[in-house]
Amino acid sequence: MAGITNAEFAMKLIPYGFDTVTIGGYNTDQESIDACEKIIARGRKEFNYPLEDVYKVIEKEVDTIKENFNITVSANLRARSPEPIVKISKIPNLDIVEINCHCRQEELVNAGCGQSMLLREDLEDYIKEVVKNADAKVSMKIRANVEGVNNLEIAKMADDCGVDFLHIDAMKKGVMDADFDLIREIANETDIFIIGNNSINSIQQAEKMLNAGASGISIARAAIKGRLDFDLNQLKL
Ligand SMILES: Cc1cc2nc3c(=O)[nH]c(=O)nc-3n(C[C@H](O)[C@H](O)[C@H](O)COP(=O)(O)O)c2cc1C
Repeated sequence: MAGITNAEFAMKLIPYGFDTVTIGGYNTDQESIDACEKIIARGRKEFNYPLEDVYKVIEKEVDTIKENFNITVSANLRARSPEPIVKISKIPNLDIVEINCHCRQEELVNAGCGQSMLLREDLEDYIKEVVKNADAKVSMKIRANVEGVNNLEIAKMADDCGVDFLHIDAMKKGVMDADFDLIREIANETDIFIIGNNSINSIQQAEKMLNAGASGISIARAAIKGRLDFDLNQLKL
């Protein structure tokens, strides 16, 4: 969660049973940094740093977590081109770079970042370039059910490109729960490791996501206060 999930925040949540934390989203090129300045100006919290500082900031956050916990750390990254993501994958202690194909703030979408990535004709080349050159594992965070996007085609493409994790915000317009049918479909049709996300606010919801075929789950809003009302160690895997 941009503006929220840094090292300090992540470390409050780890004791609830997480095996991986995702920090960010971070803006990693001038286009996303400029877009984010406009988002901040309208009152939204974001992590936004000068381009020359971004690598060092993420490195410091990762090291802070790693000094305190033996846990996998992922960084959610916004970038119009693969190069900044490849560069950040060289941070020695960073385990996963996550390509942000998810954010829907108009300013980011207009800058060619976030969910608009899913509509790019060169998306496959972009993903291949990251997978080929990254020194960390690669996750792709997607928003489901974006107009004009075929969810299954994107999932198959990610699988074929060798993406390690497909992190799916299984949001569906007009539905107050996750799109479990979509998770089931992607799990049946691909071999990719799915991190199922959206509306997980209890052990029961987490189990529903895993039963739909996700290999892992992630939690955002239910953790936004820096605590969870349930303990993931109780999950029956
Ligand atoms: C304040 C806030 C900031 C967020 N920032 C990001 C972000 O930078 N990158 C991203 O991939 N998702 C971001 N998300 C989306 C969440 O990671 C998650 O996909 C979404 O909230 C649905 O999951 P949930 O039902 O567990 O909250 C953000 C969500 C919130 C509430």
